[in-house]
Amino acid sequence: MTTAQLKELYLVRQSCRSFSDRPVARETIEEICSLAGTAPSACNLQPWRVYAVTGEKLPVVKALLKARGKAPFVDDAPAVLVIAEDTRASQASNPALSYFAPYDVGEFTACLVLAAKAAGLDTCILGWHDEPELKEKLGLPEGISVPYVVALGYAAGGYETREKIRKPESEILSFCD
Ligand SMILES: Cc1cc2nc3c(=O)[nH]c(=O)nc-3n(C[C@H](O)[C@H](O)[C@H](O)COP(=O)(O)O)c2cc1C
Repeated sequence: MTTAQLKELYLVRQSCRSFSDRPVARETIEEICSLAGTAPSACNLQPWRVYAVTGEKLPVVKALLKARGKAPFVDDAPAVLVIAEDTRASQASNPALSYFAPYDVGEFTACLVLAAKAAGLDTCILGWHDEPELKEKLGLPEGISVPYVVALGYAAGGYETREKIRKPESEILSFCD
């Protein structure tokens, strides 16, 4: 892959807030998650987990996501990936690594949304949910925390790529020479 191709992938990846009703194949979800699993993590602990919701629990999860008013569009999404940190992983290995685990999960998620885009799908990371209730509805075990979910699907026809509004490089990069 050239830098130009990678740049294009980064620029076309955007939060999608309107999905078509085209379902997402299980194999596609597996492929995306597998690619995201190549993300770096402290001591290679890989403290991430994904709970893919595509079936009968989807309306339940969507209702929880909409309850706080930040994701009214989620009804369209054919799949929701619940992104979790397995806090048991660092506790069992090296508790000091629990400091890094949330960052590791963020790195995993960044890889995941780009992998999804490369596979022709769109995503929207969604926070602001009632975590205890979400965990209860999905029957997730103790030690699993859910910082956010990712709505996944194919963008609705005509959904346009927006221009990125970002800080200038001068605000994010300094050389300490
Ligand atoms: C942790 C996190 C939580 C987010 N929660 C929401 C959300 O609840 N609703 C929403 O519409 N977008 C949500 N977003 C998407 C951001 O608004 C979006 O990434 C940002 O505005 C940049 O736009 P872009 O992703 O299209 O480049 C969230 C993003 C992150 C990383």
